[in-house]
Amino acid sequence: MNPIVTILNGPNLNLLGKRQPEIYGRETLADVESKCRSLGDSLGLAIEFRQSNREYEIIDWIHEARGRAAAIVINPAAFTHTSVAILDALHAFEGPILEVHISNVHQREAFRHHSFVSAVASGVIVGCGTQGYELALQRAAVLIKATAG
Ligand code: DQA
Repeated sequence: MNPIVTILNGPNLNLLGKRQPEIYGRETLADVESKCRSLGDSLGLAIEFRQSNREYEIIDWIHEARGRAAAIVINPAAFTHTSVAILDALHAFEGPILEVHISNVHQREAFRHHSFVSAVASGVIVGCGTQGYELALQRAAVLIKATAG
């Protein structure tokens, strides 16, 4: 069975393609999901792809990933900058965690410069547009292989 990679998306990312396209581009989250699924197929990874506007739901999905998923790719969106609860949940996950931001948060408002999640991330991909998800998956594949030995 292919290792599972859980891809989690935080609030407002359901509006990707419609919301601030000058910052986030015109691709929808469904477009991102289908790209991730085809890349997952070629990398031999089983992709789970989820989005929620609710912090508790993201936390529950991180808990569900424990002992089941080989890696987590997460774009926590605005929760990046606010959520100790998501950080704590990620601390309880044993595999690699890749943090993705579509925009270059460091070129934006100061409140976006700090991420609670980066403290637990194996890698952070910022400002590469939606391609960041694919880059994160490629990195996840390498890290999963390294742990499988
Ligand atoms: C984001 C950056 C966050 O600051 C913002 O709140 C988002 C999306 C990104 O992907 O660039 O919703 O995580």
